Amino acid sequence: MHIEKHPVLGRQLHTPVTIYFNDQPYQAYTQQSVAAALMANEIKKLGVSRKLVQSRGLFCSRGRCCSCYMTIDGEDHVRSCMTEVEDGMRIYPNMDDPEVRREIDED
Ligand code: FES
Repeated sequence: MHIEKHPVLGRQLHTPVTIYFNDQPYQAYTQQSVAAALMANEIKKLGVSRKLVQSRGLFCSRGRCCSCYMTIDGEDHVRSCMTEVEDGMRIYPNMDDPEVRREIDED
């Protein structure tokens, strides 16, 4: 459920955009965070924990706890609560550790 009008802040939803979660299209609005847009579309599982492989979702909603890591537009471990949606954004849950990109000097 999207909050369309707040009693104090006024109109909240702006331009509608389409985002893709696991390649499925969902409606969101500019100025929403990715996490808020997913919650409004009833998507609450944003990934799994590394050690216990349990579902992870929003916890702090302000960029402090890293519970909401997701892969957004090809970038691993992006805090979805601190990232604004963009039209056509591709979002995937973090289901395991990212690939480690490193260059090894071979002398
Ligand atoms: S929910 Fe805590 S950093 Fe996003």
